Amino acid sequence: MPSYDSLKLADPDIYAALTGEMQRQADGVELIPSENYVSPAVLEIMGSVFNNKYAEGYPGKRYYGGQEFTDAVESLAIERAKRLFNATHANVQPHAGAPANIATYFALCEPGDTIMGMDLSHGGHLTHGHPVTYLAKIFNFVRYKMKDITTGEIDYDEMRAVAKREKPKILMAGYSAYPRELDYAKMRAIADEVGAIAIMDMAHVAGLIAGGAHKNPFDFGFDICLTTTHKTLRGPRGGMILTREAELGKKIDKMVFPGFQGGPIMQMVAAKAVAFGEALKPEFKDYAHQIVKNARHMAVEFLKNGALLITGGTDNHMLLIDTVTSWGIGGKEAEVLFDRIGITLNKNMIADDPRSPMDPSGIRLGTPAITTRGMKEPEMEQLVSFMLRAIEQRSDDAAIKALHEEVKTFCQQYPVPGIERMENG
Ligand SMILES: Cc1ncc(COP(=O)(O)O)c(C=O)c1O
Repeated sequence: MPSYDSLKLADPDIYAALTGEMQRQADGVELIPSENYVSPAVLEIMGSVFNNKYAEGYPGKRYYGGQEFTDAVESLAIERAKRLFNATHANVQPHAGAPANIATYFALCEPGDTIMGMDLSHGGHLTHGHPVTYLAKIFNFVRYKMKDITTGEIDYDEMRAVAKREKPKILMAGYSAYPRELDYAKMRAIADEVGAIAIMDMAHVAGLIAGGAHKNPFDFGFDICLTTTHKTLRGPRGGMILTREAELGKKIDKMVFPGFQGGPIMQMVAAKAVAFGEALKPEFKDYAHQIVKNARHMAVEFLKNGALLITGGTDNHMLLIDTVTSWGIGGKEAEVLFDRIGITLNKNMIADDPRSPMDPSGIRLGTPAITTRGMKEPEMEQLVSFMLRAIEQRSDDAAIKALHEEVKTFCQQYPVPGIERMENG
């Protein structure tokens, strides 16, 4: 762990916030399924002098001089990304997941074109066409949904019917709040029937795909896979666009830069290279499989105790619980309650939720971060037990405080990468 001596001297306020955050991460259980802990190596390169360099363009074709080392790291990031996902082309410059999606839409569509994605309350992401986004003013988004929320099965017949009627340019797979795998073969066939480009936004499951715990959409003929690099893939905050064919890759490159972004954030590009190097190692396969095993085990424990899980369980890293039906409390109240015992997760809409996004009917939780910390099936049982006790004892302040202390003590056995054990207080 760096000493942070310079920061402490230069800016005591930010230093205090940093140490507070380190303590919070070490003492608490992180169940937000889009979060993770990067390795000390990834942390080091993110805080490096690559921050100082402008590198507009691509390796070998930059607008400024002095690119010997930026070219080396970006080329390595690209090569490693292609190997990880069996892609022909990789653009590692998107600043985050949303910019990767937006640049891809701009590269492939004209204003007014139709894009088909998963309905937000059924698990899709805002960038897949939610009316609150500016994207919804530019493109015509149409949606597909689950047929049956007790199993999570997607209504592929309806998807085909809507696609035939609306003729989308893009058929988008991928999700932020859906605990199952999609049928890529069926989606590819529907895209073919209507002449659409098939894209998977694998932001949430990229690490599971890289580690072989989930199927790779490219194996089913998908044209593009988009992703964030900071969720299950366990890299720096950032985005990436991969294509199956070189021609599509050229279009994407032109739109990412100069079409949409300025200079790449080179310390993040370098950190992507480091994280992809880690994901290519055999241990990452074990990690990816353990994420899924942990999530499944947690689901079984909740089900045994009478909780209602949307889709009836999970095949990936996340669980969605209907807290209103399960425990008689809304998702917001549940989020606050679990925060009080040091367990962080997020309130979440459930399919066709009658309640509002700020106080929805459910919560979303997942296992990528706790699996990085070395937790396995027995720890999943312990965590579910902490959560169920919090539900039972929620009106007893002293019991909740005592439970929080128990959670802190439990956490001390599982160090967070990049944070040395700190004394409490
Ligand atoms: C499926 C999906 N796509 C895109 C994004 C956007 O990523 P970012 O927050 O890095 O812009 C997310 C983030 O939650 C996501 O879940």
